[in-house]
Order: sequence, then C-alpha cells, then structure tokens
Amino acid sequence: MNQVALVTGAGQGLGQRFCARLLAAGFDVVVSDRDLALAQAAAKALGGRTLAVKLDVGKKADFEQALAQVIEHFGALHVVVNNAAVTKTTPLMQISPEEFDAVVGLNLRSVFLSCQVLGAHLAEAGYGRIINMASLAGQNGGTATGAHYAASKGAIVTLTKIFAKEFAARGVTVNAIAPGPIDSPAVHAAVPAERMQGLLANIPVQRLGDADFLGDLIVQLARPEAYFTTGATWDVNGGLFMR
Ligand SMILES: NC(=O)c1ccc[n+]([C@@H]2O[C@H](COP(=O)([O-])OP(=O)(O)OC[C@H]3O[C@@H](n4cnc5c(N)ncnc54)[C@H](O)[C@@H]3O)[C@@H](O)[C@H]2O)c1
Repeated sequence: MNQVALVTGAGQGLGQRFCARLLAAGFDVVVSDRDLALAQAAAKALGGRTLAVKLDVGKKADFEQALAQVIEHFGALHVVVNNAAVTKTTPLMQISPEEFDAVVGLNLRSVFLSCQVLGAHLAEAGYGRIINMASLAGQNGGTATGAHYAASKGAIVTLTKIFAKEFAARGVTVNAIAPGPIDSPAVHAAVPAERMQGLLANIPVQRLGDADFLGDLIVQLARPEAYFTTGATWDVNGGLFMR
C-alpha cells in the first residue's frame, strides 16, 4: 500500500504544488480545501491517485469527517501537511480586534485542531509525519505581511514543538517549515510587478524561493527515514533570517 498524504488548503497556490511533488514521490494524495469545487478541480488537474475532500480548517468536525473519508477511500493516513492559512497585510495600527481574532484564530487554531484530531489518529496507528507551514514572518515579525499573520506563524513554531513532544514516542514527527517569499500566486498578488525589484534587492540571494523545492522538502520530511527530525523549524528564506 502507498503512503497517504493529506494537504490542507490545497485547492490552489503552494498547497497544489506540494500535492504534485508528493504524487511524483509516490504518495497517494488527499487534496483538501474549504472550497470543495476548488479541491476537485485541483485534484483533476493533478491526476493520479488523488481524493478531493472538503475541509474547512477552522472546524474540528471537518477534520473528523475528512479523516473518515480518507480511511474509507485509501484505508490509512500517514502524512499531514498543514498548509491552509489566511494572509493579511493590514498595517499594524489599523488591525481591528475582529480581524486580529479572525487571522490568529484560523491560522493557529487550524494547526491545533489538525494536530489534535489527525495527530491522535496517527499516534494511535504508531506512525505519522506532520508538516506545518509556518513563515519567516513568524521569526522576524514580517515585512509585507500583517502583525496578526506574523504572530500566528510564530505561534505555529511553538505548537509544532508541543505536539512533537506529545507524539515523539509514538512514531509521529511534527516539523515546521518557515519560508521567506516564494515564487507563488500569493506573493505576486501582494507585490505588484513595479515593487518586485525592490523586494528582490532586499533578499540576500536576490531571488524568490522555489515552490517545488519546498514540496521536495515536505517529501523529505514525510519519509519514514525522517524519524530523527522532530519539533524543528526548517528555514527556507534566501538568507533573510539566519539563526
Ligand atoms: N507564498 C509564500 O511566499 C509563503 C511564504 C511563507 C509562508 N507561506 C505559507 O504557505 C502556505 C501556503 O501559502 P500560499 O501562498 O499558497 O497561500 P494562498 O493564500 O495562495 O493559499 C491558501 C490556501 O488556503 C485555503 N484556505 C484558506 N482558508 C481556509 C480554510 N478555512 N479552510 C481550508 N482552506 C483554507 C485557500 O483556499 C487556499 O487554497 C500558508 O500557510 C502560508 O502562510 C507562504
């Protein structure tokens, strides 16, 4: 039986690219998104051994239903990529309490719920790989992105460590990836062409990051051989933040 990987927010953007790399590496892939039509279109475009499911990452019941669908369809789940997020760029002093709660609530709560519901299933089975999408913004406070987004991504690094400790002895690793600006629809939408040169000039390697490299890092962390890395945050940021 193939290993089965579920990616949240995979209807478009980086999530869809990650699904393509996982498929190429031989995984069966669950393409999930809050928008089922988007997930279905992405799964169709990807082809191969995919299952599209509706999963709103703000809802615990959606994780439970998605898990049941995956088990019914593929018989098992081995890998979870917590990719879905909302990205807002509202200036700091203009963020309303409601918007702060909405962004932190979704980005942080989603990782918490996923690790609780899907993580418990993996731990019960005695094997699993969880990869959480954090961000450079969570480490350096962010540049183009908002304070709520950055704070939520910083807290995802902390949750990653907490769940890594919880599951370590039961065969489940939990790691985070903290990318800088990646060549992706979200970055091109946030940074218009006339401002792109300025952005690139501030990146030590002078280029945007590569989505497929991130996908291949996910594949690497999703392999059984990755058992010795857990609770870690993998930096992929063109030299913008060095530990
Ligand atoms: N693009 C970058 O340069 C970059 C840099 C650092 C971190 N990241 C992180 O990588 C991940 C993917 O980024 P992206 O650029 O593809 O973002 P994106 O905004 O293009 O895609 C986000 C996806 O999440 C889905 N989504 C939003 N709310 C959801 C919900 N409630 N339930 C389920 N799905 C939901 C959307 O439908 C979409 O498919 C995010 O976690 C982001 O913070 C991206």
